[in-house]
Order: sequence, then C-alpha cells, then structure tokens
Amino acid sequence: MADLGAAGATRRRRRATFAAGRGGSLVPMNGASAAACPSAGTAGHSGDTPGQKHGSPETARVNSKSEKHTWRSEKQSDVLSCHKTRESLLSSESGYNNYRGILNWCVVMLILSNARLFLENLLRHGILVDPIQVVSLFLKDPYSWPAACMVIVSNIFIMVALYTERQLSKGSFSEPVGLTIHCINLTVILTFPVAVVLTVPSVTPVGGAFALGIYTIVLLKLYSYRDVNMWCRDLSRAKAKNCPAVKSGDSSKVCYPGNLTIKDMYYFAFAPTLCYELNFPRSPKIRMGFLLRRLVEMLFFTQLLVALTQQWMIPIIQSSMKPLEDMDLSRMMERLLRLAVPNHLLWLMFFYWFFHSSLNFSAELLRFGDRQFYNDWWNAETVTYFWQNWNIPVHKWCLRHFYKPLLRRGFSKIVSQSAVFFLSAFFHEYLVSIPLRMFRLWAFMGMMAQLPLAWFVGNFLHGNYGNAAVWISLIVGQPFAVLMYVHDYYVLRYREDTD
Ligand SMILES: CC(C)(COP(=O)(O)OP(=O)(O)OC[C@H]1O[C@@H](n2cnc3c(N)ncnc32)[C@H](O)[C@@H]1OP(=O)(O)O)[C@@H](O)C(=O)NCCC(=O)NCCS
Repeated sequence: MADLGAAGATRRRRRATFAAGRGGSLVPMNGASAAACPSAGTAGHSGDTPGQKHGSPETARVNSKSEKHTWRSEKQSDVLSCHKTRESLLSSESGYNNYRGILNWCVVMLILSNARLFLENLLRHGILVDPIQVVSLFLKDPYSWPAACMVIVSNIFIMVALYTERQLSKGSFSEPVGLTIHCINLTVILTFPVAVVLTVPSVTPVGGAFALGIYTIVLLKLYSYRDVNMWCRDLSRAKAKNCPAVKSGDSSKVCYPGNLTIKDMYYFAFAPTLCYELNFPRSPKIRMGFLLRRLVEMLFFTQLLVALTQQWMIPIIQSSMKPLEDMDLSRMMERLLRLAVPNHLLWLMFFYWFFHSSLNFSAELLRFGDRQFYNDWWNAETVTYFWQNWNIPVHKWCLRHFYKPLLRRGFSKIVSQSAVFFLSAFFHEYLVSIPLRMFRLWAFMGMMAQLPLAWFVGNFLHGNYGNAAVWISLIVGQPFAVLMYVHDYYVLRYREDTD
C-alpha cells in the first residue's frame, strides 16, 4: 500500500510538474482575468488544511458548504475567463525543464533505427561473427608467440629499475650513474619492441599493438618509480634521517627504502595506475560480488566488441576503400558518416570495458583503493575538460611527471601543455604506426589538433554548444583517422602483393 501510495504520489508529482510549469509562468500582465474573477484567490481547490480534514462533523458541514461556494465561484470565474498570461512550454522563458519523455523518445528512436540497421546488415552480409578468427589476429604461426615473449621479456627491465634503485638507496651508485642506467633502461623499453615488431615477420598488427601497449605502460610506470624514489631520497637527505615506520591501524606504512622490494614492485606493475606511491590506498577486502560482476562485464563486452567489429565495422571499411581510392568526395563523406556510428558505439563500449570493468576488476583483486579511473567527461563543455577527465591514469601521470615539472622549471602554461600533447601524440602514433609497419602521422596530427580545437571551443563555444562540439569531434574525428589508416594499410598491402 505504501508503495502504491508512493507511486501515486510520484505520478501526481510528474503530472504536477506540467501544471506547476504552467502555474509557475503565470504573470498577469493587464490584470484582466484577475479583475473578472473576484474569488480567484481561492484557486487552491479546496483550501484543505490538516485541521479541517480531521475536524468535527459540524466543521465538516461548514467546510462542505464553503467548498461548494468556492467551487461555484470558481465555475463562474472559469466561465468568464479561461486565459492566463503564460509562456509556451518550449520557450526558455517558461522555466520548464522536464524533458524525460523526449529523452525516452531519443532512446526508442535509437533502438528502432539501429534495429533497422542490424536487420539490413544481416540481410546484406549474413552472419560474419567468427570468434576463432580473433586468435589469428594475435597469432600468425601457432608455434611462434612473439608478442607473449616480448611481454615476458619486459620483466627484465622491471628488475633493472628495481636493482638500480636499490643500489642508489645504498649509495653504491651515484645519482648520475643511476640516472644513466635508468635512461638506458627506458630507451631500450621504447626501442626494443619496435625492433622486434619491425624485424620479426610473425608479429601480427594486433599482437604488436598489444606488446607495444604493455611496453608503454611499463615505461610510464618505471619513469614514475624512478621519480618518486628520487623524491624520497631528496626528502630523506633534507631531513638527514629516514622517517620512522609510521603505524596506522593494523597496517604499517612503508618508508623509503623499505619499499624497494620485488613484492612492492610487482604490486605497482599490476596495479591500475601509472603513478607510483609508497603506500597506495587499499580497500579493506575483496568484494566477491563486485569482482564477479566486473568479470562478467569484461567477458560480455569482449565478445560484443569483437562481434560488432566483424559484423558492422569491417563491411563498412571494406566498402569505403573504393571511394577513397577514387577520391570520390561525396561517397567518402557518406562512408565516413556511416562508419561514425559503429565506431563511436565501439569506442563507448571500449571505454566501459576498459575503464570501468577491467580496471575495477584488477583494482578489486589487488585491493587497490583509488578507483577514480574516469570522471564525467561526457559533460565536457571544453576540450580541456575532456582530456582532464576521460583517462585519469594517463592524465595523472602527465600532470605529476611531465606538466608540473615543466611548469616548475619556468616553462609557460601553453608551452607545457603543448609539450604534454606532443608526448601524447608521439605515443598515439607509436602505438598505431609501428604495429601497422607504416608511418602516416594521422594519430599524431589528431592529438596535436586538440590544441587549436581546445582554443576554438574554449573561446567561441559555451555550454551545450561546447558539449556538442566535443561530442562531434569524438564521433567524426576518430572514424576519419580509422579510415585513413585502414585505407593506407590496404593500399600498401595491395601494392606489395601486386609488385
Ligand atoms: C596538458 C594537461 C596535463 C593539462 O592539464 P590541466 O588540468 O588542464 O592543467 P592546469 O593548468 O589546469 O593545471 C593542473 C595542475 O597544475 C597546477 N599548476 C598550475 N600552474 C602551476 C605552476 N606554475 N606550478 C606548479 N603547479 C601548477 C595546478 O594547480 C593544477 O594542480 P591540481 O591538479 O593539483 O589542481 C592535460 O590537458 C592532459 O593531461 N593532456 C593530455 C591528456 C592525454 O594525452 N591523454 C591521453 C589519453 S588516451
């Protein structure tokens, strides 16, 4: 009953929004209706008050009489006038802002139009989903696993960083020697996978991208590891004495150089962060329900991403090659916009799969407490806000280890920001060009274009217009880069095959 009552109340409120919207905008301009309606002040239907409701029968009778009287006066006033000064709902002056129904309509239209696309796709291409084919994306030769071998080899670089830090903490290595070893180690991390991908023919583009992605993560983590340990050394030198072990609750905090252990290093290597810390915030326990939910999401979205790529993206990309080769501009635009929808949907799914499901899964497993992997980038009204909030682990690393150190060295904000975007553009290009074995700079230019775009949106578009500009740049910009790379890749492969 309580639920029913509550539901009824909600329903009444939902309708009331409409009525209140009208009532709220009532501003008599000429007083005509008010003058014609002396009893308009009694507009609140009955004037019910709790006291009246639960009064004696006598009071009830008096009330019912006065109600009848009020009702009659209202009727008379209604007969005399039926207009009020008020705004139309869709004009911004009405103050009306309940667009729930419109949002539902958008969702229904989205489902219907995609269902049509889905049917059309099935009728035209049949079922193209083939989970076994995914294996061939990683492996060319079942007896050669170069990407997996590269990932295993990356442990050597992790160990070199740990060994160097230990020697530095003991004073066996001087700071310049330590810095040199770290620099060589990081340079090898950057170049070794490039050499393998470019020289070993059995590395597939997807396998290469996976290995390079892991190496990039290791590089950023070890850079952070070196920085933080150096800061600790500087601090302890400044204090001239290492901090005593601080106890808080039942977990003791680690102090430098007590953190330089294999266990601590591998915790950081697997933790969903790029920024090292001696004492990461930890969650009290592993929540099995949460962990299972994330695992199911990971498996489900992996399947869905693969299926949609095979069934939806690849046919559009294949059909776009001809218009691209012929430089048929109108057809190219049509294919670009056609690709934008599945590409964007896949990107959104990838976001959820990676930043919510996968990172939370590993965080839960490691009891890693800081789960801020993303913020509300979807509300971004500026490009700057988008980059601050969409990939928090990378943004945090950029701020802590690159942007702020540059600012502290006296570089201006614009130079420091440009340097961060340049670095980010370099890694975007690195992760695409090397696995594809071709250098076209589309990803690099896409990232560098963020600077003028940020300036333009920040200065000329505000509020909803800014938000729409951010969405458009995401929806159209990405498929453009995808088409360019795929086109160049096919042309290159086609030429190689025909030569
Ligand atoms: C370039 C980038 C780091 C700028 O970040 P931002 O948040 O716009 O930078 P801001 O100028 O607002 O300053 C950020 C911080 O620097 C601090 N800061 C500003 N000027 C400073 C100065 N002169 N000295 C020290 N600190 C300073 C601010 O106080 C602020 O600190 P807080 O984070 O603790 O609040 C960001 O846009 C970025 O991460 N870009 C790249 C993202 C990317 O490539 N992601 C890849 C995803 S795939």
